[in-house]
Amino acid sequence: MKLHLVVMVVTVVATSGRSSISEFQGTNKSQFAISCPNDADIRPCECTVSLDGFSLDMDCSKVQDEDQLEAVFQADFPTSAFRRFTIHQNKQLRILRDGTFKLVTFEEIWITDGILEKIEDAALSNSASTARSLIFNINNISVFPFSTLNNFKELLSLDLRVNNLQGFPKLTSSTLQVLYLSHNPLGGLPVDAFAGTPSIIDLHLSNTEIPQILPGTLEALPNLRNVGLGNNHLKELAQNSVQCNSNTGLVDLGYNELRTVHPNAFPGLSHDKGTCNFISLHNRGATTYFGV
Ligand SMILES: *[C@@H]1O[C@H](CO)[C@@H](O)[C@H](O)[C@H]1NC(C)=O
Ligand SMILES: *[C@@H]1O[C@H](CO)[C@@H](O)[C@H](O)[C@H]1NC(C)=O
Repeated sequence: MKLHLVVMVVTVVATSGRSSISEFQGTNKSQFAISCPNDADIRPCECTVSLDGFSLDMDCSKVQDEDQLEAVFQADFPTSAFRRFTIHQNKQLRILRDGTFKLVTFEEIWITDGILEKIEDAALSNSASTARSLIFNINNISVFPFSTLNNFKELLSLDLRVNNLQGFPKLTSSTLQVLYLSHNPLGGLPVDAFAGTPSIIDLHLSNTEIPQILPGTLEALPNLRNVGLGNNHLKELAQNSVQCNSNTGLVDLGYNELRTVHPNAFPGLSHDKGTCNFISLHNRGATTYFGV
């Protein structure tokens, strides 16, 4: 008897919540009737509707393990298009498995400050047509589905800072603008590293054990604005190491082991006569910022 009463109250609250959102939006109700799954079905995750009533976010920071995360997405999801997925400071989840999210899609995926080691090949694939930001910083990731990146048609930002990626990944994305790979033991920067990512604007590669920049490596990036290459093992900047254009902001080469900088290490790109405005060469105690 008592149980029935509780169930009824919950149902009434949930229903009135839904109808007030659609009334507020006016004419086309089906377009705006977004709603979370039942709380009880997705525990310990939490679903929230954004203040403007247009988007859904899911926070699963409290999941105990991979199985529990998969079980959450077996629930009935009245709306499958979510804005943000978050797992922050979780010390249990090591693998993001294929199929975990079932049919649910996200525009942003944030799994940060945890112990994640591996993201399986198809784990993110349902969000291929929606994901704009993939943020996995401060984990222990050594396996990431880089080979599927070119399927992500809206992807703007990929953040894999502070992880365990060994070797520079093969990247293909015509849309990617912001790339963070800093603080990973990459160990090198191939001359064709950016041949498949022509839209990069901000590139962060500090602390990645890079010993040299081969001339022309950055030439594939006509929109490059900020380049972080600090805290590496660069000893020499050869001719044509960093090409600048009219958008170039900060080129950070601080904390390397630079002894030789070729006079033409920072040419402006010939077609727009751009120049490098701010170059940081803080090495061995001497900071130099100069316009070239
Ligand atoms: C309402 O929106 C839905 C989803 O966007 C659309 O399929 C449908 O045609 C719209 N109905 C009207 C009457 O505009
Ligand atoms: C990081 O991942 C590796 C496997 O790639 C594992 O051997 C190591 O124990 C992990 N480190 C931590 C601190 O969990």
